[in-house]
Amino acid sequence: MDLQTHPYRSVLYIPGSKERALDKARSLPCDAIIFDLEDAVAPDAKAEARATLAQALSDGGYGKRVKIIRTNALTTEWGFEDVRVLSKAGADVILQPKVNTYADVDNLSDLIGPDLPIWTMMETPASVFNAREIAAHRQVTGLVAGTNDLTKELGCRYRADRMPLLASLQMIVMAARAARGVVALDGVYNRFRDGEGLKHECEHGRDLGFDGKTLIHPAQIEIANTAFAPTQYEIDLAKRQIAAFEESQKQGQGVAVVDGQIVENLHVVAAQRTIAKAKSIAEMAELVEEENA
Ligand code: COA
Ligand code: MG
Repeated sequence: MDLQTHPYRSVLYIPGSKERALDKARSLPCDAIIFDLEDAVAPDAKAEARATLAQALSDGGYGKRVKIIRTNALTTEWGFEDVRVLSKAGADVILQPKVNTYADVDNLSDLIGPDLPIWTMMETPASVFNAREIAAHRQVTGLVAGTNDLTKELGCRYRADRMPLLASLQMIVMAARAARGVVALDGVYNRFRDGEGLKHECEHGRDLGFDGKTLIHPAQIEIANTAFAPTQYEIDLAKRQIAAFEESQKQGQGVAVVDGQIVENLHVVAAQRTIAKAKSIAEMAELVEEENA
């Protein structure tokens, strides 16, 4: 699988300790899974979760869903063993929690070697300040907003419009884009039975530039999948923009006009990106349909 063109609309956390959820995920329509050993697992269940998770990964069956393992921090009593056991368990990515600095990423890199891509949780004020260097680390290919931890660390209030988190969220997206090719994922929406609220927050994250949303419950998947996918209107518009631009170039013109709006080369690049994204989403949907047939 190509991790670069893969969609990341819906990225579901699953507690490594919950066998039933680990099994259920084999047929869920999420684009990626974060197998969690950290905050979703109670201290006295850590060792067992590690073994349960290693077994689930070895059993496989997760298809094209990108497999991400979130270990405990290396500063905890579980971190080293998590990394030792699970960095070789067949996941696609290791997700490092409570990162503050570039050096924190380097420490993990030294332990696991250069081959397994690293994503970092962006959940401390320091990580947000250091986002640019963290995202530029040679092994880092994704940043995940940890909005619950950030809210706690900042001492800010929870607000539906996320105004207190806006600066942090934008820094995360900017750092990912400045580093080029780094995935940026939005934080979780805690009220997992509130579909309307989730939809609103997904659209907010999408409009800020995130590639997708991290999720905590299967009921959230379809909502995120829809919010982060280009609409049919956007796909059609992209095609019309590309066609109009090609036509105007043939006529020796540098720009075109579609629906009363200018189309320049940069709009064509964005249109091509929209079409590539729609294609990878369609491929993903086809595979999930086959699995459930
Ligand atoms: N991944 C996969 N399957 C999940 C799931 C998840 N994150 N959360 C729930 N399910 C499954 C349940 O196992 C259950 O399956 P079943 O019908 O086969 O028994 C089904 O979805 C319905 O679950 P439901 O009863 O509605 O939820 P719950 O009350 O059991 O659990 C949570 C609610 C929030 C505790 C649970 O969704 C969860 O643990 N989420 C992940 C939390 C997490 O990882 N946090 C760390 C990052 S913030
Ligand atoms: Mg956290």
